[in-house]
Amino acid sequence: MKTNNLVIRPFKKSDSANASLIFISELIDEEVYILYDRKMTLKEEKAWLKDKLRELRHNQQVALSVWDGQKLVAVCDAKKGKMKERDNTLIGIAILKAYRGKGLGEKLLRAIIKLAKEKLKPKNIYLSVFADNKVAQNLYKKVGFRQFAIFPKWMKHKGKYVDSLYMLLAK
Ligand SMILES: CC(C)(COP(=O)(O)OP(=O)(O)OC[C@H]1O[C@@H](n2cnc3c(N)ncnc32)[C@H](O)[C@@H]1OP(=O)(O)O)[C@@H](O)C(=O)NCCC(=O)NCCS
Repeated sequence: MKTNNLVIRPFKKSDSANASLIFISELIDEEVYILYDRKMTLKEEKAWLKDKLRELRHNQQVALSVWDGQKLVAVCDAKKGKMKERDNTLIGIAILKAYRGKGLGEKLLRAIIKLAKEKLKPKNIYLSVFADNKVAQNLYKKVGFRQFAIFPKWMKHKGKYVDSLYMLLAK
């Protein structure tokens, strides 16, 4: 599997909620280190997509999707905080297993940071990551994020409490 056949683009109105439902379901089955811990229904996924498109239209977030034909294989987004936290932008990223380890994560992360800086004009770009997720931490460090906080025993993952690390993009 080469990554140069993939299409990286923003979400659009005609995107299928079914594609994002299959995407999140594969990540849930794999029990990756993400917030979601149960599969969504198609109704929930439609609402997720609708919400995302609305926030994109209003410059509340920027997002990139990656497609292998009709299959959604990765999502990376950057969301503005609300109200007095509006100048802080939170990054998220997830890639399906078959598409990892080929440079896609780094490419997406660098692209979303560039987009976020242009469109959201953040003071702080940050993210949170499970303390056990060393692969993601390596990527984040490589791109310039540094740990600034630990929320101890914050996330319940596979029945066990895990620390949540917060990382800030160095200026
Ligand atoms: C974390 C994730 C986005 C990384 O994406 P990726 O496409 O696999 O990463 P890349 O191939 O671009 O690699 C970039 C860097 O990440 C780190 N990395 C990637 N795979 C790694 C591995 N197996 N072991 C250790 N570090 C690794 C390295 O620092 C690598 O840089 P290098 O190639 O110069 O060593 C991807 O593994 C993923 O989606 N995982 C599941 C969901 C998840 O954990 N999301 C993050 C939630 S906070």
